[in-house]
Amino acid sequence: MLNNNYPHEVLDDAAAMAERAFEVLTAAAREAVAARGKFTLALTGGSGPKGLYQRLAQEPGSVDWANTYVFLGDERFVPYEDKDSNFGMCKKSLLDHVPVPADNVLPIPTDTGTMEKAATDYAATLTRVLTPAAGQPPVLDLILLGMGDDGHCASLFPGKPTLEITDAWTTGSTPGTLPPPVGRVTVTFPVLNAARNVLFLVPGEGKAKAVRDIFERSPPKEVHPSAAVQPMDGTLLWLLDKPAASLLTR
Ligand code: 6PG
Repeated sequence: MLNNNYPHEVLDDAAAMAERAFEVLTAAAREAVAARGKFTLALTGGSGPKGLYQRLAQEPGSVDWANTYVFLGDERFVPYEDKDSNFGMCKKSLLDHVPVPADNVLPIPTDTGTMEKAATDYAATLTRVLTPAAGQPPVLDLILLGMGDDGHCASLFPGKPTLEITDAWTTGSTPGTLPPPVGRVTVTFPVLNAARNVLFLVPGEGKAKAVRDIFERSPPKEVHPSAAVQPMDGTLLWLLDKPAASLLTR
């Protein structure tokens, strides 16, 4: 049975997914700037968002970049110049091509010596810029996420203690079973579930089984962490391509 907790759309191909994601992101940006004067966005790594980033780069006027603050939901603990850096990918495919003020670009630091220090520093950055009430998680306008074949999102991997964190906004995260085998720094579930909007970009046949399990069997987060992304006061949307949706029974 399909679980309505996972609103989703199935798109024909990568171009259609990029276009739909572009519509969702630009609408969220307009709404946020109109309501609060700024748009706070967390980018994701992986291959899923690349089409979206290119689409945004082609039309730099589509977002009020001057009032946009760009964060990362997770990062591999490597220098930004490394081929595995999430920020490096976001920079090359998007940020180098749009007029976002340098001071508004807030990547997760990777030169701090330890992942734990990077996590603490980034929690401080989130709190400074997003000014949540004391003890409450920072609220981002839009968090983009991909999902790994094992059901992970951001760098919250199956079976890891990081899934249980409720009192910290970021954490270091040892690698899951998927490459690259490097440490990560990630936001935690409290941040994901405090967001005003969460958009998953999930292309490819490799994700089909996890998508089916999450949508139709509601597995615990220990099995498929992405199942536990359920924004409390926000909207959730999964964009799938046909291969990723191929095992859904309806
Ligand atoms: C990372 C990501 C990670 C990614 C998924 C899906 O650092 O790798 O942030 O959570 O989104 O692994 O990646 P793909 O879109 O490449 O399948």
